Amino acid sequence: MQIVEAPIFVELGLRVYIKRDDLIHAYISGNKWRKLKYNLIEAEKNGFQTLLTFGGAFSNHIAAVAAAGKALDFDTIGIIRGEELSPDSNPTLQFAAKCGMKLHFVNRTLYRDKEQLTQRYGRDAFVIPEGGSNQLAVKGVAEMVEEVKNQLDGKIDYFCTALGTGGTAAGIVSAFEEEVLVFPSLKISSEEAGQLILTHILQPKGHLKVIDKYHFGGYGKMNDTLLDFIRDFETQTGIPLEQVYTAKMMYGLVELAKEGFFKSGDQIVVLHTGGLQGRSELLPPIKRK
Ligand SMILES: Cc1ncc(COP(=O)(O)O)c(C=O)c1O
Repeated sequence: MQIVEAPIFVELGLRVYIKRDDLIHAYISGNKWRKLKYNLIEAEKNGFQTLLTFGGAFSNHIAAVAAAGKALDFDTIGIIRGEELSPDSNPTLQFAAKCGMKLHFVNRTLYRDKEQLTQRYGRDAFVIPEGGSNQLAVKGVAEMVEEVKNQLDGKIDYFCTALGTGGTAAGIVSAFEEEVLVFPSLKISSEEAGQLILTHILQPKGHLKVIDKYHFGGYGKMNDTLLDFIRDFETQTGIPLEQVYTAKMMYGLVELAKEGFFKSGDQIVVLHTGGLQGRSELLPPIKRK
């Protein structure tokens, strides 16, 4: 847990803390570890030898499952959206293949039919959904919230996370009683994002607010404004971000602060969901403060 000393937060009297889950592991980091933990325990408990999961070309989740399989001695199968891709297409897929993950590349239509793909490629495998988001993931993320509550004194007013498949936000809102601010990294309305999150939980404890303005054009999209923001933020705070999720969330948080959304003295927790292995080559190498 680290205080974020960006000038805007200091100026406005906001106490912003970041839960540095990016530091858990180079590949099984951030929300990946939280979401995989109970899935891996369940797979092991039920005697599965193989894990099967799904993802896009740049999926941090694919990299994390591949790394977890290698570390814990599971065989792994990754079904990747995009028949034009290969294990050499990018560093994420190269890494997954190097960990021993068997990759299958399928077109977008086929990719939608997860049931059929499972039957075809991994009938006996323990299936982890896309992005790792399921009930077991929610349980793992909720544990992180309890950790944060024990680490900080005083009331936490807001808990912030990036959103992709919604499991992380679901875990937070299942365990945190106050306001959860969710920043989708894809072009999705706040209603759709809310529905996505609520497919993973029965009983939210806290109140959800989706801030759907800071996706920068959609999933994986970025521009110079976002890259400049990352460079400035890192110089000011020493906290590394990546352009797909964490930077969009932090950018959105700074914009909310500038608009006067928060009041002086508010205590805000931001989850660093990791993903630094997918950091753009346009950014400088990560320096640790
Ligand atoms: C770095 C990072 N942050 C945030 C998210 C979004 O998490 P979720 O898919 O649980 O909404 C992901 C995707 O899992 C991710 O890789």
